[in-house]
Amino acid sequence: MQLWSLAMPVIRFVREGRDVECYPGENLREVALREGIELYGLKGKLGNCGGCGQCITCFVDVEGADPLAMTPCTAVEEQKLRRRPSSWRLACQALVQRSLVVLTRPQVGLPDREAIMARALGMPLPSGPLAWPEPELQADPEEGEEAGEGEVDSTTRDEAGGG
Ligand code: FES
Repeated sequence: MQLWSLAMPVIRFVREGRDVECYPGENLREVALREGIELYGLKGKLGNCGGCGQCITCFVDVEGADPLAMTPCTAVEEQKLRRRPSSWRLACQALVQRSLVVLTRPQVGLPDREAIMARALGMPLPSGPLAWPEPELQADPEEGEEAGEGEVDSTTRDEAGGG
C-alpha cells in the first residue's frame, strides 16, 4: 500500500476558523455536523432535508479546491445548483477525498471575504487537525441572514445572480 493513500484529508472551514480531519470518502455534511460546524442559515435550521439533497440549504463554496478533492457533482447538484456559482456544492452530496478549503453558508456575507479566502488557500493544509488560526472570523451567526437561504448576497459573487 502506498503511503499517500493513508493520508487523512483536512477540511479547512474558513468561516469557523477550524481545520478538521476526516476519513477519505466521508460525507462533508456529516463531518461538519459531527464537528459542530454550522452549515445552515435560518431556513435550514428551521428545517432541512437531513441530507437528501432536497432542501438546498447546505451550500458550501469550495472555490480553489483541487478538482479531485471531492466526488463529482451529483445529478441532484447539477439540477439544484444550476443558478449558483460553479464553485458551490451541497455539502450533503459531496464526499471528501482530499484536503480542501470550505466556506460554509456562502450566501451569508463575510467581511473581507476575498482576502480571507486567499489566506486560507495560501496556507498549506496540515496533515492533521491543526487549527486554522482566524479567531476574528467568529462573527455573529445571524449576520447577513437577510440574504435568505435561497438568495445570494449581492456582495458575494458577481456571477451568482444569473438565470
Ligand atoms: S441537507 Fe438538504 S440539500 Fe443538503
